[in-house]
Amino acid sequence: MYAYTYTRYGNPDVLNHVELPTPTPKANDVLIRICATTVSAGDWRARSLTMPAGLGLIGRLVFGITRPRKPILGTELSGVIQEVGANVTMFHRGDAVIGFPGARFGAHAEYIVMPETGKIVHKPDALRFEDAAAIPFGATTAYDFLVNKGKLSAGERVLINGASGSVGSACVQMAKHFGADVTGVCSTTNIDLVRALGADRVIDYTTTDFTTQGPQYDMVVDTVGSAPWVRTQQALVPQGRMLLIAGSTSDMILGALRARLKGKRLIGGVASESVEVLRKVVQMTADGHFHPIIDRCFDFSQMIAAHAHVDTGHKKGNVVVTLGSPNNTGKDLHSAALTHL
Ligand SMILES: NC(=O)c1ccc[n+]([C@@H]2O[C@H](COP(=O)([O-])OP(=O)(O)OC[C@H]3O[C@@H](n4cnc5c(N)ncnc54)[C@H](OP(=O)(O)O)[C@@H]3O)[C@@H](O)[C@H]2O)c1
Repeated sequence: MYAYTYTRYGNPDVLNHVELPTPTPKANDVLIRICATTVSAGDWRARSLTMPAGLGLIGRLVFGITRPRKPILGTELSGVIQEVGANVTMFHRGDAVIGFPGARFGAHAEYIVMPETGKIVHKPDALRFEDAAAIPFGATTAYDFLVNKGKLSAGERVLINGASGSVGSACVQMAKHFGADVTGVCSTTNIDLVRALGADRVIDYTTTDFTTQGPQYDMVVDTVGSAPWVRTQQALVPQGRMLLIAGSTSDMILGALRARLKGKRLIGGVASESVEVLRKVVQMTADGHFHPIIDRCFDFSQMIAAHAHVDTGHKKGNVVVTLGSPNNTGKDLHSAALTHL
């Protein structure tokens, strides 16, 4: 099979297009032929070792001290089951699936082996492979933070910082779905997109600092790391809570204590990458309550260009890479994705 590997950290040029043996599934594994994958913020961090200030050492411990431990990137995928191990009962050859290797990576390849009890669910027929691949990373993070960690309630006033990104665009849609009053923060070019996602109000961060507008929000979600606790606390009502999906080392370590001292809460940590949450967000997508936003769709041969686009830090939603799925149009799908809204 063909795959993209990297043996040192750096810019997209560290990626190599190589031929490797196709992996063989063990008794409890499935072999998936990948039809579409994405270049996510997780891939960007692991490839470039870009970590929040002060977390460089932790980044090396996670991804590999002197060189990358996992040579193939790719956190999410859609595809077709090619082969099943002797003990596999939940999947059959030919099943269309969505997989979320997440921090285990491995989806920037033509094939991947995953345990049948891993984060794999059947792909709803109505979903295109391109859209299906763009669900797991952003939507499971949004769901886990808003619902499981943040205990979002209907009627709450929620602000999403970074509302046009993969995680942010999912947060806006899910917070609306669960009955919140949603304010999205993005740059000028993304105002229409964030409105179309369902935000009740949009703040342009290039002209307005939401932290100076007074205490208005029950919940502030930072998906960027540009709203430190010391400023964000001013935007929270008494007992308000901040969900720190991306942020500084200082806030990650001391934020919860600082927030408690003010009678508020700061909730950080890592999103749970569970199959239960994956199943929920895929069902939400099938039911029309969530639409993964696709910025651009690249061919597998353009993987390095796809990484370079993500490196700008300004992608809209998700960057998809296709590997010849049955319904691959090869076109820029941004407008197509938006027509769903
Ligand atoms: N804690 C966890 O478990 C977890 C899980 C998943 C992801 N993450 C982290 O979450 C972060 C976001 O991931 P993602 O996939 O959503 O990334 P992304 O798609 O690249 O989104 C980043 C967004 O940030 C916006 N942005 C940039 N500067 C901004 C600013 N000053 N104010 C407001 N928005 C700004 C950009 O929009 P504009 O173009 O409009 O500027 C862009 O759309 C990453 O750091 C990732 O590592 C954490």
